[in-house]
Amino acid sequence: MTAFWTADLSETLSSARRVVNAATGTRDIENWLRAYDITALPSTNTGAADLAFQRWMKFKEAFSPKFVVDALASLDRPPTHCIDPFGGSGTTALTCSLLGVRCTTTEVNPFLADLIEAKVTPLRPTALADAYVACVDAAEAVDPGSLSPGAGAPASLREPGVGGRFVFWSEAMDRILALRAGLMAVDDEDARRMLRVLLGSILIEASNVVVNGKGRRYRGGWMRRRVTADQVDRLFDDAVARAARDLKEFSGRTRADVTIIRGDTRVRLDDAEQADVAVFSPPYPNSFDYTDVYNLELWMLGYLDDSASNRALRLSTLRSHVQVSWSPGGSDLGSPTLALTLLDLDRVRHRLWNPNLVSMVEAYFQDMAVVLSKLRDKLAPGGKAIMVAGDSRYGDVRVDVGSIMAEVGTELG
Ligand SMILES: C[S@@+](CC[C@H](N)C(=O)[O-])C[C@H]1O[C@@H](n2cnc3c(N)ncnc32)[C@H](O)[C@@H]1O
Repeated sequence: MTAFWTADLSETLSSARRVVNAATGTRDIENWLRAYDITALPSTNTGAADLAFQRWMKFKEAFSPKFVVDALASLDRPPTHCIDPFGGSGTTALTCSLLGVRCTTTEVNPFLADLIEAKVTPLRPTALADAYVACVDAAEAVDPGSLSPGAGAPASLREPGVGGRFVFWSEAMDRILALRAGLMAVDDEDARRMLRVLLGSILIEASNVVVNGKGRRYRGGWMRRRVTADQVDRLFDDAVARAARDLKEFSGRTRADVTIIRGDTRVRLDDAEQADVAVFSPPYPNSFDYTDVYNLELWMLGYLDDSASNRALRLSTLRSHVQVSWSPGGSDLGSPTLALTLLDLDRVRHRLWNPNLVSMVEAYFQDMAVVLSKLRDKLAPGGKAIMVAGDSRYGDVRVDVGSIMAEVGTELG
């Protein structure tokens, strides 16, 4: 395969013209992509941080819409149906929807599944504005004493927290929860979902933490940065205004042919129909647990209500982390590189920050073998699976993800 991802922006724009489905795509796709910052790596979303829709929520593990356009344009035929088994923030689904290419995506994290659905669902800006007014009015009437993020939520979420540290000042948390309660006053389901997602998009800014690698860390000087209810309102107001501008600019788009399958792709991918391409980026075997990375959104917006639901979500994610211990089981995947890597990791096991990392790496590739074999069955003859994945290193042992995936994929046919 040629290095399609190195295309410059003018090549990508002409690819978009070629790939767009004249009947169902939007003529605005080129305008949308034109704001892309070409100096950024296409395997990240950095260059698209200011693009309409992509700017609704900072999702640092995303790839770029440019990558998706270039990937689709690298096929021998114009694509008709694309699968993304790890939807994330919905870059593949959104780009396909603007191109008028049918897309099916699976995502296990319910907040992210809602983010995808919000991005691909056309909504009148006035419907969003009406919903916003209804939500804010209803929030005013809520008794703050009646609000809590959920029975099993960590005590560190609300002031006074644990050991003198807490993620939200009480005043900020009460306001966020009041707005969440206010969503119930919104009748239009699409508008309600969009507002919930936009409320999720301000949580980090309204909190005392920043995203850092696998989780969060407290901001420098957070004790002096008291977040008030008014500031929460302003952040929410800005997020809604930004989304309304994007909806207005792309008001000509039609309801996209996007199917969002919520749940564990290792099982739910069975429900996808045949496609001619898959463009995706799975979690990497880097011990990140997306349940932790997005746990503020999950708890604060009511997607989790007790520790059992938190654990159930962890267990449905790909085995790329050691938050729960895994026993790999399963059969030999026929990858010599994986076999050597596991031997090397076992040799340095006593030096690793968690000895379960060795079984995590093995379990990770078993999960990916399941996904690849399901994709093989879902892709039409001649179809392609295009994947962005990163290597990891534990001790001095490199986990060469690309080579292992190539060997596993070849073994699977
Ligand atoms: C690297 S991100 C994908 C980013 C995406 N390409 C984008 O541009 O936004 C991987 C995603 O896989 C999801 N995921 C992890 N385990 C999953 C599973 N078993 N089934 C479905 N999705 C899963 C995570 O929640 C995360 O959103």
